Amino acid sequence: MKIIIINGPNLNLLGKREPEVYGHMTFEDYFDELKNKYPTLELSYFQSNIEGELIDKIQEVGFTYEGIILNAAAYTHTSVGIGDAVKAITTPVIEVHISNTFAREAFRHQSFISPNAKGIIIGFGLKSYELALQSFL
Ligand code: DQA
Repeated sequence: MKIIIINGPNLNLLGKREPEVYGHMTFEDYFDELKNKYPTLELSYFQSNIEGELIDKIQEVGFTYEGIILNAAAYTHTSVGIGDAVKAITTPVIEVHISNTFAREAFRHQSFISPNAKGIIIGFGLKSYELALQSFL
């Protein structure tokens, strides 16, 4: 089963970035843990700070992979283009957020991804990614 985690802007800074919100672990370390825990899955990971690169990746995998776990980070709240890409593909997308975006500023309550996502997992820290993964199993 081919599943990809796609992370948006500033998530390359996990571990260093606002640890009181996002924790102390780097995503690379967390991803290694996930791969060890689910060795039978073909898990891959892509991160970009660039909106168009995220759209290109969604299009590239979006007709062949079994699942996409997408944390579009700040673009969640602004990007019609990423929302349209999620709508255009056939691979189911689970929208994920590390923090509880509804407990934060009002601009984080809006998502252009949610209407086209298969499901949404928000606010469980890095564990949100594993919960999304389990939903595909
Ligand atoms: C985030 C929440 C977004 O509002 C924020 O811009 C991020 C991370 C999260 O995972 O909690 O960069 O997507």
